[in-house]
This record gives sequence, C-alpha cells and structure tokens, in this order.
Amino acid sequence: SQRTLVLLKPDAVRRGLIGEVIGRIERKAGWTISALELRSLDQETLEQHYGEHKGKPFYEPLVAFMSSGPVVALVVEGERVIEGVRALAGPTDPIAAAPGSIRGDFGTIVRENLIHASDSEESAERELKIFFPGVA
Ligand code: GTP
Ligand code: MG
Repeated sequence: SQRTLVLLKPDAVRRGLIGEVIGRIERKAGWTISALELRSLDQETLEQHYGEHKGKPFYEPLVAFMSSGPVVALVVEGERVIEGVRALAGPTDPIAAAPGSIRGDFGTIVRENLIHASDSEESAERELKIFFPGVA
C-alpha cells in the first residue's frame, strides 16, 4: 500500500474544519492515519515543500498564507491513498471542484483551498521526509 502527506491548511484549522476533513479521510475503508501533528511552518520548511512553485506569481502569497497559522500535518497509509486523497480534495480551484469534494464543499479562493495532498509517489516520498523525518 501507499503513504501520503496531507496538510490541513491554516484556513481549515481557523474555520474549525479539522474534524470534518479528517473524518472524510478516516472513513475511507482500510486507510490509516499513522502520524498527526498540529504545527506552525517556518519559511525553510515551506521553501522546501513548495520549491517547485518558486518564482511563480502566487508563490510569495502562498507561503505567507501557509505561515499565517498552524496546519495539521498527517501521514495517511492505505490502498491507492495518494490518488485517493487528491480525489477527496478535488481540483486546486475550489470553484471548479465538484460539490462532495473537500474543496468543492468548503472553498471559494484558490489559495485558501483547505488541504494539501502529495500528487505522486515521488512527491509523497520527498514531502514525508520534510514533515516527518522520523517516520520516513
Ligand atoms: P497543493 O496540494 O497545496 O500542492 O495543491 P495542488 O497540488 O492542488 O496545487 P499546486 O501544487 O499547483 O499549487 C500549490 C498551491 O498554490 C495550491 O493549492 C494553491 O493554494 C496555490 N495556487 C496554485 N495555483 C494558484 C494560482 O494560480 N493562483 C493562486 N492564487 N494560488 C495558486
Ligand atoms: Mg501540489
């Protein structure tokens, strides 16, 4: 089975949606949360995590937003969990995301789209090392 890194972004934490979002992940058959932590992200961590977007117009505001309050970081394990959490989240733009998805149900703003989930096995491996060096 697979492992993925999930972040509940500062908007999800501020809006009291931790339980709602984690509940959807928890209820998927056979998936397990194997690590979970509330933490504030420093600039170095964010630079590593979002390095692929450095130089893009949305990068600086994205990093500012991601450090505007604590996030909840989770490791989720299970069958096809990388693709699966991305499907639960919905597309990046919450207005384009279907109702029933996390972003579709709760988001309106592209930057404040509630959740991050690794987008491939390679990304998962890289991101898990950044956030949970002990676990990876
Ligand atoms: P993450 O799971 O957070 O990585 O989202 P993603 O994989 O769906 O999107 P991507 O990695 O392309 O972008 C990372 C984050 O940057 C997104 O989740 C958004 O919060 C933000 N972002 C991406 N594209 C745009 C954009 O065009 N405008 C703005 N304002 N923000 C963007
Ligand atoms: Mg991404």
